[in-house]
Amino acid sequence: MPNPNDNIQIALIGAGGMGMGDTSLAVAMPGVKLIAVCDIYDGRLARAKERWGNDLFATRDYREVLARKDVDAVIIATPDHWHQRITIDALDAGKDVYCEKPMIHSIDEGPAMIEAQRRTGRTLQIGSQYVSSLVYQKAKELLSAGAIGQLNMVEAWLDRNTAIGAWQYSIPPDASPATIDWDRFLGSAPKRPFEPVRLFRWRNYRDYGTGVAGDLFVHLLTGLHFATGSKGPNRVYATGGLRFWKDGRDVPDVMLALLDYPGFTVQLKVNFESGTPAESAGMKFVGSEGTITTSTTRLTLARRPRETEPGYTIDTFPEAVQKDFLEQYRKQYPPARASADSLRPDRDDTYAPPPGFNPQREHHRAFYESIRQRKPSVEDAVFGYRAAGPALLTNVSYFEKRVCAWDPEKLS
Ligand SMILES: NC(=O)c1ccc[n+]([C@@H]2O[C@H](COP(=O)([O-])OP(=O)(O)OC[C@H]3O[C@@H](n4cnc5c(N)ncnc54)[C@H](O)[C@@H]3O)[C@@H](O)[C@H]2O)c1
Repeated sequence: MPNPNDNIQIALIGAGGMGMGDTSLAVAMPGVKLIAVCDIYDGRLARAKERWGNDLFATRDYREVLARKDVDAVIIATPDHWHQRITIDALDAGKDVYCEKPMIHSIDEGPAMIEAQRRTGRTLQIGSQYVSSLVYQKAKELLSAGAIGQLNMVEAWLDRNTAIGAWQYSIPPDASPATIDWDRFLGSAPKRPFEPVRLFRWRNYRDYGTGVAGDLFVHLLTGLHFATGSKGPNRVYATGGLRFWKDGRDVPDVMLALLDYPGFTVQLKVNFESGTPAESAGMKFVGSEGTITTSTTRLTLARRPRETEPGYTIDTFPEAVQKDFLEQYRKQYPPARASADSLRPDRDDTYAPPPGFNPQREHHRAFYESIRQRKPSVEDAVFGYRAAGPALLTNVSYFEKRVCAWDPEKLS
């Protein structure tokens, strides 16, 4: 275990797009050093050595990384179907773990991961950077101060209209059974012959990925739970379809989910053919006194006092009835007198983090702080499961065409 002033020596397991992105942020922190890398495609091991030095220990087998005493912590950025197995093995080997979201591939994998964190007492942080976003911290502060009154509804979306946004990732020309450990990629997934598209575009296949539910809804639910303090929904329903990307994938490219939270209703949306702009992500918190609208880089607060005065249909009543109605109404609700409290800004308030603020960097900073100071993780296994469980339940609802129940206390 590193002392507060020691270097923390890390290893990367799964050196693709996110793994390399996570590692670049990690090694830019003082006192964090990458010493080992694991991937089942040799090209990624070679690239890691090009980026971080030839003396890196490199292997196709993550267990060789976990066996090293000089590795304090690991970043796990493999496809989703490996997250739980490698995380539990790493915790049991005494490592601290940064595991990319979604923390699990299927709902039943959550409890064992929670138990492994508890049993080993190691730091486990899940990699949805929404909990380290200043935008969502501001939303949390405003919601708990009652800035929009009572929260009634949340609309959250993550739409993308580009090939990369729709996971059409590049397949390297040297992909072959010689450069890839195909069986180790498959792991617990059904055995099948070598087919590089299933590795390099693994998100498109339920055997390895979790579709838009685990890739994108999980971020939205992480941000939502962080901002509202809610533990999760009681009921989940999802619909959608494979509308455009008919490239052999077995997951939808348009998905809508409705979730009943205690006290408010949530709508989640992902659309891979959204028109313009090319990419749009955000949330609209609708309260009794206004709205908070977030994007990845800003938050807008609009305070709108509720209009409660009677109107519209009363002029369909005879004049005498209208008069009688208004007299009775005014007895019950005397006209409000102007007060300082009733004054509202005549424009919306907008908040933006300082230029250069990067929530993902903050998320990594939080991880190394937790390790050094033995502070609780900002996104531990329970928090991760509270987001991943209902997110993956939207897949169950979509594929089984049914409404699903969830208990946010019992986590089942
Ligand atoms: N936090 C975020 O915003 C964010 C963004 C992108 C991806 N992610 C997550 O990061 C993870 C990786 O996504 P990606 O886009 O980097 O995918 P990727 O395909 O680019 O990288 C995955 C890497 O894992 C390797 N791999 C596969 N099986 C392995 C095994 N058994 N052992 C070791 N390596 C193995 C692959 O060869 C590949 O290099 C996913 O879980 C994804 O959800 C998170």
